[in-house]
Amino acid sequence: MSILKIARMGHPVLRLSAAPVDDPGAPEIQRLIADIGETLDDAGGIGLAATQVYAPWRVVIFEVPDDRLDDGEADGEGGAPVPRTVLINPVIEPLSDDVAVGWEGCLSVPGMRGAVPRFTRIRYSGVNESGEPISREASGFHARVVQHECDHLDGILYPMRMTDMSTLHFVSEVRHNPGLREPLEDEIEDHGEGEEALDEDAA
Ligand code: NI
Repeated sequence: MSILKIARMGHPVLRLSAAPVDDPGAPEIQRLIADIGETLDDAGGIGLAATQVYAPWRVVIFEVPDDRLDDGEADGEGGAPVPRTVLINPVIEPLSDDVAVGWEGCLSVPGMRGAVPRFTRIRYSGVNESGEPISREASGFHARVVQHECDHLDGILYPMRMTDMSTLHFVSEVRHNPGLREPLEDEIEDHGEGEEALDEDAA
């Protein structure tokens, strides 16, 4: 396995529409899955898409750890922890028109955070690393993470989903000026793909 370099916003690979995976068991796909997992471990994030490591295949890996459940949506719909999941050729179907705004960060947009509207309830499907079908309903933070990661496979970064660009900010500035974001903090819980977004030393 290898720790891979993570592309940052501006690199054209992040704008690609990734190709479907025909054979999840193919050695190059299995190697990619292992490398994405190791890269995610190293970066300390909660999700990573293949395009972020310069591999334009429809593969994402994510998890919702127990200690991030309280990062639930503004409506407090936290849900249950989700173990690390490899999702290949994902398809997302919104289960309602309800949209909530929450904070997101991204390992490809290091040090920043913004408020992003996402569907609050979705069904997603695909196959796992063994080619077995996955079909889950998700809400709250879980649904947000999946939408964020799958957007990467269509060349979409979270700032492209934002409707209020005034909320885009460097985490370190807010940390140094906590009053700056207080009005939003009351309404929008914290969501970061990358733990580094919450780590002042790394930001
Ligand atoms: Ni991201």
